[in-house]
Amino acid sequence: METKRIIIKDKTDPKDNELMEAAEILKHGGLVAFPTETVYGLGANALNGEAARKIYEAKGRPSDNPLIAHIADEEGLFPLVKEIPEAARKLMKAFWPGPLTMIFPKSDAVPYGTTGGLETVAVRMPSDPVANRLIKLAGVPVAAPSANTSGRPSPTTADHVWEDMNGKIEMILDGGPVGIGVESTIVDVTGEVPMLLRPGAITMEMLTDLLGHVEIDPAITGPMKEGVHPKAPGMKYRHYAPKADMVLVEGELQAMAEEICRLASEAGQQGKRVGIICTEETESFYAGKNHENWILLCMGSREKEETIAHNLYGVLRKFDECQADCIYCEGFPRTELGQAIMNRLTKAAGHKIIRV
Ligand code: TXA
Ligand code: MG
Repeated sequence: METKRIIIKDKTDPKDNELMEAAEILKHGGLVAFPTETVYGLGANALNGEAARKIYEAKGRPSDNPLIAHIADEEGLFPLVKEIPEAARKLMKAFWPGPLTMIFPKSDAVPYGTTGGLETVAVRMPSDPVANRLIKLAGVPVAAPSANTSGRPSPTTADHVWEDMNGKIEMILDGGPVGIGVESTIVDVTGEVPMLLRPGAITMEMLTDLLGHVEIDPAITGPMKEGVHPKAPGMKYRHYAPKADMVLVEGELQAMAEEICRLASEAGQQGKRVGIICTEETESFYAGKNHENWILLCMGSREKEETIAHNLYGVLRKFDECQADCIYCEGFPRTELGQAIMNRLTKAAGHKIIRV
C-alpha cells in the first residue's frame, strides 16, 4: 500500500481541506497516523472492530492490548461509557482536553476488538488542534495507540512514524514534532479509589491535589512479581525499547556519572559500541574522557524536565540508527514529570537498574 504524507502548514490552526481526506479514510475503516500533544497516534474508527484489527496488524501488536478511544468533545464520551464516576467528572473538568486517559465501564457500542476483550474502555480527549479537528471531521471516536511498530519507542515526529509505518497505512498527517513526548497519563476511575496505571504529563501530584487519595498500580513502581499483571495490559511489554541493551544508573549526579564512565570504559574495552544518555549538567564530564567509541546523546537540562521528556524517545531511536551495542543512561528523581520519565526509561532498560 502507498502511504500518503500530508504536511499540515500551521499545526496550531489546521485547515479542514488539509484534514478532509484523512477524515474520510477513518470513516471508511482505514488507518491514519496523526500528531497529538503526547506522541503520534495510529488512528482507526473505534466503533469498527475490523478497523481496529488493522491497527494490530500494522503495529504487530498483541491483540489483548486494548486501544484508547480518542474523542473531540465531551458529547463524544457519552455513547462510549456506561457511567461517568464522580472522580472522572472532576478530572475531565481539570484536564480535558489534554494528556489524560481515563478507564470507564464500556457501553455496548464499543466493540471488543477495540478493548482487547475487556468490559472497560480507555478514553482520551486530545488538545492538539490537528488531532481534535480530525476526530471532529471523522465524526467517530478514533482508536489510536502510539504509531510505532510494537516494541519500538513511541514516535514523536512524522519521520519516526514514516520509519515504522510506511507502506502499512493509508496516510500520515505531518504536524511536526509533538509537544510533550511521552504518552498520556492513564487513570482507572472504575474502582472506589482512582488508580494511576501509567504516569505522564498529568502528574501523580496533580492528581492527588485534585482528588485527594489516588492509588498507584504496583506495575509502575517496580518489576512485576510472577503471576501479577499490570492493570493496563500494555504496561507488561518491554516496550519503548531501543535495540541495544540498556542499563539505567540511578543516584547522586557525580556518583552516577562516574559509574557510567566506569561501565562504558569496560564495555568499550570489550570492543562494544557504547551509547551514553546524558544531560547538559554532565555532558562535558563524559566528553572530557575523550573515548572515541562512545556515542554521547544529551536529552537536555535537568532543570527543565519537559525537555527531557520531549527528547527521550528521539534519543532512543537515534541509538538504533547508530547501532549501539549497549547504552548507559542517567536516572532522574522519581517525582512529578520525573515519574513518567523514569517509568519509560526503566522499561527501555528492561528493569536493569544500578543504584549508586
Ligand atoms: O498519549 C497517548 O495515550 C497515545 C496517543 C496516541 O494518544 N496513545 C497511546 O496508546 O499511548 P497505546 O496503545 O500505546 O497505549 C495505551 C495503553 C496501553 O498500555 C493499554 O494497555 C492501556 O492503555 N489501556 C487501554 N485500554 C485499557 C483498559 N480498558 N484498561 C486498562 N488499560 C487500558
Ligand atoms: Mg504505545
